[in-house]
Amino acid sequence: MSILDKHALLERNATLLLVGSLVAVSIGGIVEIAPLFYLENTIEKVEGMRPYSPLELAGRDIYIREGCYVCHSQMVRPFRDEVERYGHYSLAAESMYDHPFQWGSKRTGPDLARVGDRYSNEWHVQHMIEPRSVVPESVMPSYAFLKETPLEVRNVATSLKANRAVGVPYTNEMIENAAADLRAQADPNVDTSGVEARYPKAKVGDFDGDPQKLTEMDALVAYLQMLGTLVDFSTYDDATGYR
Ligand code: HEC
Repeated sequence: MSILDKHALLERNATLLLVGSLVAVSIGGIVEIAPLFYLENTIEKVEGMRPYSPLELAGRDIYIREGCYVCHSQMVRPFRDEVERYGHYSLAAESMYDHPFQWGSKRTGPDLARVGDRYSNEWHVQHMIEPRSVVPESVMPSYAFLKETPLEVRNVATSLKANRAVGVPYTNEMIENAAADLRAQADPNVDTSGVEARYPKAKVGDFDGDPQKLTEMDALVAYLQMLGTLVDFSTYDDATGYR
């Protein structure tokens, strides 16, 4: 029986062909994917990355709940046009604490990976309430209700614990202080040194324009304002990683 005859056997038997194809594809898959779990540098470590603060994490949950990812990606690709528009291309480490990650593939609106610090809190609030009041040609829906919706604060510590279970390095101290940190970050009248020590570079103060109320808008704006601000790219060298 020549080798071609043997192949005819495979081609005439659908089940055998399926099993054969699966074996061939999994060899390719294993060779490509398995080493990534063992290589030290699959996710290159970068200075500045930290887990989300409780308020940012709550904002991120709202971002996911509202389906913002349907129109916005969070992944600057390594192409010149993208880098000129949005800033340094995204590094794997920048989404290492994202469960699930928000890279996305659909851009009805701009990429948001580096939107932090680009606008003021007031701009974001106004834009969320009525996008067309600041960008007349915008097709983004209005999210005015976020400013009227009190932020749910019951399950903050549980949320941090769930993230810790999948590898985000939240400490016991962070979990114990989660509920207090969540309120403190958006309250201009309390001592925020604890939040700032636990979550370096966290933006503090009132986000939604109403210091009396803690709303979903506070959380969402706190989240948007930190996106892409943790890693200092002025000290980052593409070839070596640093300086
Ligand atoms: C139907 C698609 C759509 C959805 C859903 C959507 N957006 Fe947008 N977004 C846009 C478009 C289009 C723009 C560009 C025009 C503008 O600035 O309003 C935009 C702009 C933005 C900007 C300004 C970005 C920049 O660099 O100028 C931010 C921030 C933003 N969106 C946040 C959000 C958030 C947060 C949500 C979810 C609560 C959301 N968007 C949901 C379409 C969408």
